[in-house]
Amino acid sequence: MLTPPPLSLYLHLPWCIAKCPYCDFNSHALAGELPEGDYIDALLADLEVDLPRVWGRTLSSIFIGGGTPSLFSADAIDRLLSGVRARLALAPDAEITMEANPGAVEHDRFEGYRAAGVNRISLGVQSFDNEQLKRLGRIHSATEASRAIEAVTRAGFERFNLDLMWALPGQTIEQALADLEQALAFEPRHLSHYQLTIEPNTVFAARPPELPEEEIIWDMQQTCQERLLDAGLTSYEISAWAAPGQASRHNLNYWCFGDYLGIGAGAHGKITLPAKGHILRTRRKSHPRPYLKAQENGSFIAEEAIVPDEQLPFEYFLNRFRLDQPVPWTEFETRTGLDRERIAESMDRARELGLIDSDETCIFRTARGKRYLNDLQALFLPR
Ligand SMILES: C[S@@+](CC[C@H](N)C(=O)[O-])C[C@H]1O[C@@H](n2cnc3c(N)ncnc32)[C@H](O)[C@@H]1O
Ligand code: SF4
Repeated sequence: MLTPPPLSLYLHLPWCIAKCPYCDFNSHALAGELPEGDYIDALLADLEVDLPRVWGRTLSSIFIGGGTPSLFSADAIDRLLSGVRARLALAPDAEITMEANPGAVEHDRFEGYRAAGVNRISLGVQSFDNEQLKRLGRIHSATEASRAIEAVTRAGFERFNLDLMWALPGQTIEQALADLEQALAFEPRHLSHYQLTIEPNTVFAARPPELPEEEIIWDMQQTCQERLLDAGLTSYEISAWAAPGQASRHNLNYWCFGDYLGIGAGAHGKITLPAKGHILRTRRKSHPRPYLKAQENGSFIAEEAIVPDEQLPFEYFLNRFRLDQPVPWTEFETRTGLDRERIAESMDRARELGLIDSDETCIFRTARGKRYLNDLQALFLPR
């Protein structure tokens, strides 16, 4: 039976000082002044649109992402979070994360963000190599990245994440390890270690940089993984590494097919509506200008669609199989509203191929299933 899973809130702040050449996020180089007050008003008006769909439910996490949310002042973030609290119940232990760019934050702002209720910072460091930072179009140096991390810890944030990228243009294994060493010196209890990917419609797609060869990338990955394990971190998802109990609750909710309101320019949401017997996906207008204008008549939504039943198994397993933890059958059944018999054929095939194992209570992804994740996910596509 379809049952509402935990509910999260994603708030998208779409501006950056400059657009990085590898980035395909919905982010726009800021031309002129940041429309800070207007945008916070728009976000709160936008939130009102989704409220009737989640009456009585409690938020377990909030993620303020971008773009570069740290362009916004602490007062603006305070007004945003106060506005959210006035409209929706927030769990007492709710995780509230905000992304920050080391080159776009005044360091005394972190105290203000914390006072506003933010309890976790995710810092886009990417590398500690000034040459690489330049190639990646970053607006900060390695020293500024280190200072930003110090400012985060000084402000009293016990939970913070560092984003690092690897397999960078011309990078050697030693250089990737040196980046990791510098990050680990700050004793982060969460680290996102992203392999650089060339995304369509980016500057790097138009003018591809020379990336390390496949074989080097494989060795780089093994070497970095060993170092991360050595530092007491484990990967709970392909790119996400955390100390025990430090996994991002917000991301775990996404990956376990939880619900999330997606508010802000281009944000995506997913809401379970048990009374109607379906799951709704939502998308907001992408460009900040029409999004801001939508405030006049509340027309923030660009698209809404019910997820058809035959698509639910793939949508559920797509992210769920990225996680190492076993899949309880009850989770599959309550979050998709489907009976386990509906996927019997795909399950048999996945078992035959050695990609999964299962018993009465859980489905277990095998080591082979982890290695051939795409093949495993594809078995659950609608036929
Ligand atoms: C929204 S950004 C983080 C906050 C802020 N905008 C910044 O860049 O500092 C999310 C993260 O995704 C990662 N990322 C973005 N594009 C990527 C790509 N093409 N390949 C790998 N990682 C990427 C970067 O590590 C980046 O920090
Ligand atoms: S600062 Fe972050 S969101 Fe903005 S363009 Fe660069 S990677 Fe993308």
